Amino acid sequence: MDIAGKVAIVTGGGGGIGRAIAQALVAGGAQVVVADLDAAAADSAAAGLDGAVAASGDVSDPDVIAGLLALAESSFGPVDLYFANAGIAGGVGLDLAESEWDATLDVNLRAHIRAAKLLMPGWLERGEGYFISTASAAGLLTQVGSAAYSVSKHAAVGFAEWLSITYGDKGIRVSCLCPMGVNTKLLYEGEESGDPLGRAATAAVVAAGRVLEPAECAEVVLAAVAAEQFLILPHEGVLEMYRQKGADYDRWIRGMRRYQAAVFAGLD
Ligand SMILES: NC(=O)c1ccc[n+]([C@@H]2O[C@H](COP(=O)([O-])OP(=O)(O)OC[C@H]3O[C@@H](n4cnc5c(N)ncnc54)[C@H](O)[C@@H]3O)[C@@H](O)[C@H]2O)c1
Repeated sequence: MDIAGKVAIVTGGGGGIGRAIAQALVAGGAQVVVADLDAAAADSAAAGLDGAVAASGDVSDPDVIAGLLALAESSFGPVDLYFANAGIAGGVGLDLAESEWDATLDVNLRAHIRAAKLLMPGWLERGEGYFISTASAAGLLTQVGSAAYSVSKHAAVGFAEWLSITYGDKGIRVSCLCPMGVNTKLLYEGEESGDPLGRAATAAVVAAGRVLEPAECAEVVLAAVAAEQFLILPHEGVLEMYRQKGADYDRWIRGMRRYQAAVFAGLD
């Protein structure tokens, strides 16, 4: 899809990857609603961009999503592209409270489902719309240390696949972004927690490949949107790892155990 003149919403647009996507969209001639839980971050991200407005709220709340769609429409026109990008790392390990599982699944998965439910009727009527899901390489391969993040991201990949298969022939485009490490606050949350599992979570990602800058990631995203490509893999190597997983699951799991052991051994 050519983004020039299009209207986009970017959730989690106040920081990291979302902020860089919003900047790249505006540079490409789109108009953008920058949505974030952190109102000050959304304001500061939108302030420097011609053709962007800020909105705050929890984007897993259907009322907030409906408000974003209304704001986009009254500011610029109907939404063409929705970047379901807001995400949280969630806690680590198995011993998480139900509320922690809920929070992670709400933001990383249900927010996507709720947005798609609200967007799809209008998009189907117009015969066009583009849903871009930010999942993670952890949604294809698994995240050392974090069950909730891994599960939520696998499910986000599954939901994006389902959307594309179900509505692709009706003019609806879907892409699914699956990066490894990107230099943002979220990547270093595990390290900063001091918890060995959290430290291992960050270390496993950082050691697995080059940590990209958000702008580099956004550039790959917009190129994939222009090409209407489903799977967006900014890191070389992820596709090969995913192929190895599919080719021999047991061998891949043994390899992941060895990798995890090496990561733990490397923590001081
Ligand atoms: N950084 C990485 O290494 C990496 C790798 C793979 C995938 N991702 C994914 O990229 C996406 C963006 O993360 P990031 O790395 O830019 O992190 P980040 O922490 O810099 O940005 C995430 C933004 O989402 C916002 N947010 C969180 N919960 C929200 C909610 N309920 N409603 C609205 N906004 C909310 C935060 O305030 C923050 O501004 C996430 O989905 C993350 O899982 C990140």
